[in-house]
Amino acid sequence: MALTDLCRYPIVQAPMAGGASGAALAAAVSEAGGLGFLAAGYKTADGMYQEIKQVRGLTGRPFGVNLFMPQDPATDPAAIEVYRQQLAGEATWYETPLGEADSGGDDNYEAKLAILREDPVPVVSFTFGCPDRTVLDAFAKIGTYTIVTVTTPEEAAIAHRAGADAVCVQGVEAGGHQGTYRDDPQSGGAGLGLLTLIALVRDAVPLPIVAAGGLMCGAQIAAVLAAGADAAQLGTAFLTCPESGASPVHKQALTDPLFVRTELTRAFSGRPARGLVNRFMREHGPYAPAAYPQVHQLTLGLRKAAAEAGDPQGMALWAGQGHRLARELPAARLVEVLAAELDDAAAQLTATLRNLRNLRSAS
Ligand SMILES: Cc1cc2nc3c(=O)[nH]c(=O)nc-3n(C[C@H](O)[C@H](O)[C@H](O)COP(=O)(O)O)c2cc1C
Repeated sequence: MALTDLCRYPIVQAPMAGGASGAALAAAVSEAGGLGFLAAGYKTADGMYQEIKQVRGLTGRPFGVNLFMPQDPATDPAAIEVYRQQLAGEATWYETPLGEADSGGDDNYEAKLAILREDPVPVVSFTFGCPDRTVLDAFAKIGTYTIVTVTTPEEAAIAHRAGADAVCVQGVEAGGHQGTYRDDPQSGGAGLGLLTLIALVRDAVPLPIVAAGGLMCGAQIAAVLAAGADAAQLGTAFLTCPESGASPVHKQALTDPLFVRTELTRAFSGRPARGLVNRFMREHGPYAPAAYPQVHQLTLGLRKAAAEAGDPQGMALWAGQGHRLARELPAARLVEVLAAELDDAAAQLTATLRNLRNLRSAS
C-alpha cells in the first residue's frame, strides 16, 4: 500500500491528544478526502477502541490511530519535587491540588497494541520514539500502514531500519509536543525547521515523508511537496474546526491578537511542546524539569481548572507557529479549501517556471 492510496488529497489531519482530535474530526477529514487521525495518547486502551468504533460508524474511508511510545522512567525525583513546590502558588490560585506524579510512563502501550493487532485499522503512527522491528513487522503482516514521527535524520534512519512504512517529519514550527525519541534535558527542545529537515531526511532514507509543522494553507503544502514530502500533516489548522474538541478558550486564543508568539516549553508536561506564550509558560517554563509524563500528571488539575474558569493564562494553549492563519471552517470544507489552494499554488509555480524558461530562451 502507498501513502497516496490512503487518501484523495495529500492532507493528513494531525493526531491531537487531549481531546482535540476525536471521532467527529477524524471522520469528517477522511470523508472529505484527507486522512483523519485519532489520538490514543492519554487514553485507556478501551477508550481508544470506543473511538475507533465511532469513526467506523461515521466513515468507511481509511483513518489512522496515533500511539505514544513508552517513556524511560529514569527521571530525577528530586527535580520533580522541587517543581511541585514551585507550583504551590498555582494550586492555591486555582484551588486545585497538584496531581500525583507517578512513573506510569507506558500510556497503556501494550494493551493498545494488542487491540490494534486484533482488530486492525488502516494506519498506525507513533510519536516519542520508534517501536522495534517485531511490532512494525506484525502491523505489516496484517496490512496496517505504519508511520513513525521523527525530528532528525538520525531518528529517520532508526525508523527505516526498524521497518516503518513512512516517516512523519516534524519541524520545530509544529504545535504541541516535539516527537523527539529522547528528551535531552540539556536542550530547550530546539530543533530543525521543516524545509531543512525534509531535505536532510530525504537524503538519509528512501521512505515516504509526511511533513508537519506550521502548515496552515495550500501554498505551504505545495512547498513541502516540492521539497520532497509526499503529504502534509496539519494540526493547528484543524484545531479551530467545529468538529475539534479543543476548548473554546483555546480555539479563541489561536487568533486573539493578545497571543502573538509561540514557544517550546516543558512547563506543562515536562517535554518540549509548542504553545502560545502565556503567564504560566513565562513563569514556570524557565525552570520546568525534563520529566515527562510526571510534570503532565502534576499540572493536569491546574490546566483543567484554568480551562473551566475560562482563563487562557493557566492552560496549555498548544499551537504551531502559523496559528494566526487558523480559519474557523468545518473540517470537510477546510480540506476542500486546502486542496484548491494547493492546486492554485501548483499552477502558479508551473506558470512562473514557464515564464522563466521563455525569458531564458528569448535572451
Ligand atoms: C493540540 C495538539 C495536540 C497534539 N497531539 C499530538 C499527539 O497526540 N500525537 C502526535 O503524534 N502529535 C501530536 N501533535 C503534533 C502534531 O502531530 C503535528 O506535529 C503538529 O500539529 C504540526 O504542527 P502544526 O500544529 O503547526 O500544524 C499535537 C499537536 C497539537 C497542536
